[in-house]
Amino acid sequence: MHQARLTLDPAFKVAPVRRRTFGTFVEHLGRCVYTGIHEPGHPTADEDGFRRDVLDLTRELGVSTVRYPGGNFVSGYRWEDGIGPVAQRPRRLDLAWHSTETNEVGVDEFVRWCRKAGVEPMMAVNLGTRGIAEALDLLEYANHPSGTTLSDLRVTNDAKEPHDIRMWCLGNEMDGPWQTGHKTAREYGRLAAETARAMRMIDPALELVACGSSSSSMPTFGTWEAEVLEETYDLVDYISCHAYYEERDGDLGSFLASSTDMEYFISSVVATADSVGARLKSRKKINISFDEWNVWYLSRFQDAGAPQDWPVAPPLLEDHYHLADAVTFGGLLITLLRNSDRVTAASLAQLVNVIAPIMTEPGGRAWRQTTFHPFAQASRHAAGDVLRVEPDSPVYETKAYGEVPLLHAVATHSATEGTTLFAVNRSVDTPLSLEIDARALGGVRIVEASTLTDPDVYAGNSADEPGRITPRANADVEADPLRVLLPPVSWNVIRLA
Ligand code: AHR
Repeated sequence: MHQARLTLDPAFKVAPVRRRTFGTFVEHLGRCVYTGIHEPGHPTADEDGFRRDVLDLTRELGVSTVRYPGGNFVSGYRWEDGIGPVAQRPRRLDLAWHSTETNEVGVDEFVRWCRKAGVEPMMAVNLGTRGIAEALDLLEYANHPSGTTLSDLRVTNDAKEPHDIRMWCLGNEMDGPWQTGHKTAREYGRLAAETARAMRMIDPALELVACGSSSSSMPTFGTWEAEVLEETYDLVDYISCHAYYEERDGDLGSFLASSTDMEYFISSVVATADSVGARLKSRKKINISFDEWNVWYLSRFQDAGAPQDWPVAPPLLEDHYHLADAVTFGGLLITLLRNSDRVTAASLAQLVNVIAPIMTEPGGRAWRQTTFHPFAQASRHAAGDVLRVEPDSPVYETKAYGEVPLLHAVATHSATEGTTLFAVNRSVDTPLSLEIDARALGGVRIVEASTLTDPDVYAGNSADEPGRITPRANADVEADPLRVLLPPVSWNVIRLA
C-alpha cells in the first residue's frame, strides 16, 4: 500500500471557486443538438421539442454555462439561417462535419433551452467565413431590447426579452488548418481586435474570448498566443485553451497523468499572456477560458473519417467512457480548480452524445456516462474558496511525463458549506492511504466519503446498465487521525464539516 499526506488550511486560498468552471458545450455536431437536447416527438419532449430527460440530467450535472453553436461548425455558420419560422429555414452543407444542417434549432431556441436548463448561454461568432458586420448583427439581434430592425425581428420571433448573452467567443480554433477560414495569428488578431472593438461599441461590458491555440502541441503554440494578444490585449478578457486526451498504445499510467500536460499548458499560456502585458505596460490580467477540454479518442474519429454523404445529425464522436476515462477526467477537473486564480471559465466539450457525459438513444433512453459523476460531484460540492493543497505523495514513472505524483488533489472551503477534498489515486494497481491534517479547520466531522472505482478499469455504463460505474460510499475511513484509503484508479470526494 502507498502512503500520502496533505494539509487542509483555510488560510491557503488560491481564489474563489468560479461557477463558470462548470461550463459545457453544445455544438451543431453529430447528435448533440438533434436527438440530444432537441427531439420533437420523443416521449419526454416538451412543448418546444426539448427532451425533458436531457434537461433533468443537465440540471443534475450542475452545468453553469453552455458554449454554442461551435466549435468548428461556427466557422461556416450563418446565424440568420436559424431564426424565424422553422419550415422556412434553409438546409445547408456543414463543411466542418460533412453533414447537412437543417437549422431547426438556432439562437432563439438555444437560449430558450438555456433558460429551462438554468444555464448561462455563451455564444461564439463566425470569424472564419464571416466577420465584423455579421458579429454585430448577431449581437444586436440577441441583446438589443427593441426598436431596431434586428432587435424587433427577435421580438417578432417570439423572443420578447433580450437574450442578454454576456460571454462571446471571437471565432474558434483559428490556428487550425482544418478550420474553415483558418488564419495566421496576425490576420486573426487584427480581425478579433476590430470585431471586439465594434462589439464593445454596442456593449462595453461584454466578456470577450480571443482564440488561443487549439492544443499545446500545435507548431505555433506560444507564438500564436503572444501575437494574438499583442493585437487584442486591451479589448478582450480571456484567451482560450483547448485540450483533449486519450489513452495511447495501452499506456494507462501516462493517460492517468494527463493533467500534467494541462498544468503545463495553463502555466505556459499564463506566462505568455503576462509577458505581453508586461511589454504593453498594462496592469490588466488576461484570464483563461478553457473552453474545450475532455477525454476524446480523436484517433478513432480520424481513422473512421468524416461521413461522405452529408447526413443529418449522424452519430459522430460518440465515445463510450470507462472508469479510467472518468478518473483521468477527474484529474483534469482538479487541475482546472487548482488554477482558479487564472482559469476563470471552462467548457467541458461537449454536453450530450458528442464526447459527452450524457448519452441518449433517438426516441429512447438517456443515461449518465462515467465522466458524468466527477463533474456532477465537483459542481455540487466545490464551494467558497479553492485551497492550495501540496500533497506529499509517492511518485511513479510515466513514458509521457517522467515522474508524476500518484496522488492528485484539490480542496475547497466555505464557512457555511464545509470543506471538500477531491482526490485521484493514479496508481494502476495499489491502494493509497491518505492522511489528512485538518487541524487548521478546528474539529472536523466526515460528512461523506465516496469513491468512483471498479476492479475493471475499462468498465463503463450503458443504457442497459446505467449504474455500473457510479460513486459509492467509501467505508475505509478513519476519523482520528483523519485517514482515507483511495483504491487504485479512483476518483474520491471527502466532505468535512
Ligand atoms: O469538440 C469537438 C471539436 O474539437 C470542436 O468542434 C473543435 O473546436 C475542436 O477541434
